[in-house]
Amino acid sequence: MALPPLQIAIVGLGNVGTGVAKILTEHPERIRQRSGRSVEIRRAVVRDLSKPRDVKLNPGVLTNDLESVIHDPNVQVAVELMGGIHPAREVMLALLAAGKDVVTANKALLCEHGDEIFECAKKYGRTVCFEAAVAGGIPIIAAVGQSMAGNQILGIQAILNGTTNYILSEMLLRGQSYEEALGQAQELGYAEADPTLDVNGTDAAQKLGILAQLSFGCKVTAADFHVSGIDKLERTDIQYAKELGYTIKLLARVHLVGGRLEMSVRPTLIRVDRPLAQIHGPFNAILLDGDVVGPVSYSGRGAGQLPTASAVAADIIDLAIGRAQLTFACLDLWREKSPFELVPLHEATSRYFLRLTVEDRPNVLAEVTGVLGRHGISLATLIQPEAPEVDDASAVQRVPLIIMTHRTSAGSLAAAERELDQLAAVHSPRMVLAVAD
Ligand SMILES: NC(=O)c1ccc[n+]([C@@H]2O[C@H](COP(=O)([O-])OP(=O)(O)OC[C@H]3O[C@@H](n4cnc5c(N)ncnc54)[C@H](OP(=O)(O)O)[C@@H]3O)[C@@H](O)[C@H]2O)c1
Repeated sequence: MALPPLQIAIVGLGNVGTGVAKILTEHPERIRQRSGRSVEIRRAVVRDLSKPRDVKLNPGVLTNDLESVIHDPNVQVAVELMGGIHPAREVMLALLAAGKDVVTANKALLCEHGDEIFECAKKYGRTVCFEAAVAGGIPIIAAVGQSMAGNQILGIQAILNGTTNYILSEMLLRGQSYEEALGQAQELGYAEADPTLDVNGTDAAQKLGILAQLSFGCKVTAADFHVSGIDKLERTDIQYAKELGYTIKLLARVHLVGGRLEMSVRPTLIRVDRPLAQIHGPFNAILLDGDVVGPVSYSGRGAGQLPTASAVAADIIDLAIGRAQLTFACLDLWREKSPFELVPLHEATSRYFLRLTVEDRPNVLAEVTGVLGRHGISLATLIQPEAPEVDDASAVQRVPLIIMTHRTSAGSLAAAERELDQLAAVHSPRMVLAVAD
């Protein structure tokens, strides 16, 4: 006997919500076959009823009355696509308490309040699906939570933000400045009008927080580990990195090291022949290392209307079948006590790229290398470009000094930087970037 249709509400019919509605209304037969039942959009909630919508819905479906959806017993699944933390958190808790399963793409909310939301879901016997919250159309939540469930994940290296990857690609491939590349990303719709959370690393950090939770069972918010963005990078950093055989990417990384987790999101030099260095444009890529399977890689569109909606649609189908409920009940997330501690920031080790601005006069190099040496930092490569010819030969010129270090701790580097600040011959700007192994 055919199952009755699954009735859903889409809470937020913006960019992604519209994509979800399009998939469900344009491919009803495909959805019915894959779900074993049809899926009906009973309600779609927006703030502004007068805004034009790029999808055709049945009369009476569009509403601005969120309460009527929360209290509608016929709505079995709510798809939260309003975004942000408030009121999305309160709405999601109310939907779960009212007996609805929830699908969400809201990484900010899950990273900060996932523990509360999952506890609420368990209390009311409901399910939360969140495939679209990390890397848009790439099925990474299913990969980590289900397909690689027989493994202990040992490490993740990823490009999780398409906006910054587009900007870095334009700076590398077309020699654009950061500002030019950002402007172009905004024109093409790859960057928001306010791109702060993308370019300062927060968005990637929230996604890495969710992946760390799923892979290692510990709650980590963006405040717990090193997060920096690409907004201070200059074209010259990209060029020096290229000369040295590297590409700069906003790398999200978490690794088990000696039973503890090293975790960071920061612009990182990656050797040009490595897979992640070859991911250009608004794409995402994720390399996972499982103790049984070894390395596994995924890449594809990590954001945008249809790629993100593709992941949401998969979650809706999983709920319609009843598969998501079984998986969710067994997910061991947000435990009271984390099985792994984070390595304190100052203990984490890396190789580094330093771009210093120094006076072009005798002994400066010795002063700089002396400071690094006193902190146990050994140098792998050093480039000091010649100063341009100037008319006034008596003026002291400032030139860049590029240094690649061997592996050292963040604490040693920070101490060396404090000492470099005291040298009269060292000026700003200074750029310090991590170098991937
Ligand atoms: N865009 C992407 O590529 C992408 C990728 C991955 C994940 N996500 C996540 O997906 C979620 C949605 O993103 P989006 O880009 O689709 O956002 P969006 O375009 O800004 O759409 C938000 C929708 O929510 C509605 N809304 C907001 N506050 C509301 C309220 N208080 N009551 C009722 N409706 C409300 C808005 O109504 P109006 O239309 O009337 O303003 C709009 O329809 C976010 O969590 C985001 O992080 C997005």
